[in-house]
Amino acid sequence: METRVLKVSEASTLECAHRLQQNEPVALPTETVYGLAANGLNEIALRTIFEVKGRPLIDPLILHFKNLDQIKEYVIASPLLDTLAAAFWPGPLTLIVQKKSTIPDLATAGMASVAVRIPSNPAFKAVLESVSFPLAAPSANPFGYVSPTCAEHVLKTLGGRISTILDGGPTNFGIESTILDVRRIDSPRILRHGPILTEEIEAVIGRQLVNQNVSTQDANTSQIAPGQLKQHYSPNTTVELIPYGSWKDVTMTRYRTSETNKIAYVYTQKPELLSENVYWLSETGNVQEIAHNLFATLQKLDQLSFETLRVEMSNDISLGLAINDRLRRAAAKFNV
Ligand code: TXA
Ligand code: MG
Repeated sequence: METRVLKVSEASTLECAHRLQQNEPVALPTETVYGLAANGLNEIALRTIFEVKGRPLIDPLILHFKNLDQIKEYVIASPLLDTLAAAFWPGPLTLIVQKKSTIPDLATAGMASVAVRIPSNPAFKAVLESVSFPLAAPSANPFGYVSPTCAEHVLKTLGGRISTILDGGPTNFGIESTILDVRRIDSPRILRHGPILTEEIEAVIGRQLVNQNVSTQDANTSQIAPGQLKQHYSPNTTVELIPYGSWKDVTMTRYRTSETNKIAYVYTQKPELLSENVYWLSETGNVQEIAHNLFATLQKLDQLSFETLRVEMSNDISLGLAINDRLRRAAAKFNV
């Protein structure tokens, strides 16, 4: 199959909408990462998502809606849903709520709950406005690989398997949405750290969140939700984690060992001592920039011939929690 990359325009929005109406999947930009979108109410369309990604059917999808009224047609509403919607939507927050029977079991891996969000990316919103159904959209990468933050990443890994990629440029946040389970009004739970911070949510709802983000739990914790896999987001090159602050502690001997050409160092900020195998995620260690560049840098370095990427962790607070979550999972592949 030939894969076409379309620049965002009115014509390409209608083209994507048309393909989605035919129950075909298309890759669309969101403000977090690119999504592989398809009709969230249609079994054939949903099945294609799993096939294209090589994703197990036990891993439920996020449904994307144009507005809160549309969400309420498909899920059980609650005051907490209203409060969080008013504060954070459209934007990078996904809520786990009770579903109604109008959502196919395939979208939710048979569970009674469903993940929903209203994205803010204008190109994605325009497509949502042009179809009558919600769009199921996991990240547009082969299952287990690094999420795509630009159209080229999608083309490289899913090219030939989908007909259309809508190119809206690099995504804003660079990591996936925060996932919050709000089914229990008295104990909302963070399932995945992301761009919307725990402290921001706590300030809005006036209570503390329970942290169930898997990679920050101890090694023996069993899987909490389908798809909360410890090993995820992995490049093919081995990832080893080095402690936060390592950018300060650089020496030429570290870079120039006999293995030099096989190891790349990726720091949170630009170190004083540079070498051709040294990279950084932000000039100044700005945490938003680190998140924005993380997957893009892993994707880029995975194309080079390094055997190992030694990646510096971020400070384990605020957005650093989301960054470190992705890093721990990227590295987990090689620790099991
Ligand atoms: O930013 C994002 O959230 C991106 C963009 C495209 O919207 N999407 C995304 O989807 O990251 P995906 O499928 O790659 O990750 C969704 C995660 C999976 O780990 C899945 O297991 C979890 O959400 N999930 C989905 N439905 C769930 C549910 N009912 N209960 C618990 N976890 C759920
Ligand atoms: Mg994903």
